[in-house]
Amino acid sequence: MARLVHITAKRPIKIEPSDKPVWVCACGLSQKFPLCDGHHKQCDTEQDGTVYTYDDQGNNPKPAAPTAPPEP
Ligand code: FES
Repeated sequence: MARLVHITAKRPIKIEPSDKPVWVCACGLSQKFPLCDGHHKQCDTEQDGTVYTYDDQGNNPKPAAPTAPPEP
């Protein structure tokens, strides 16, 4: 089953469960989810107000066809 998930975060979230900080993916593109692997840099070229799709490896951003907003 596939899902369409709208994520607007473009950077990881830093957590510090111990002495060593951990960066958790918030963009949804990491191949090492839940840890950030740097794929969020793909979001740098996104334009505000445009929805993008990515391939299965979190690369190749393309503007998506307009869709209705998700139901709450
Ligand atoms: S925040 Fe998702 S890969 Fe870095």
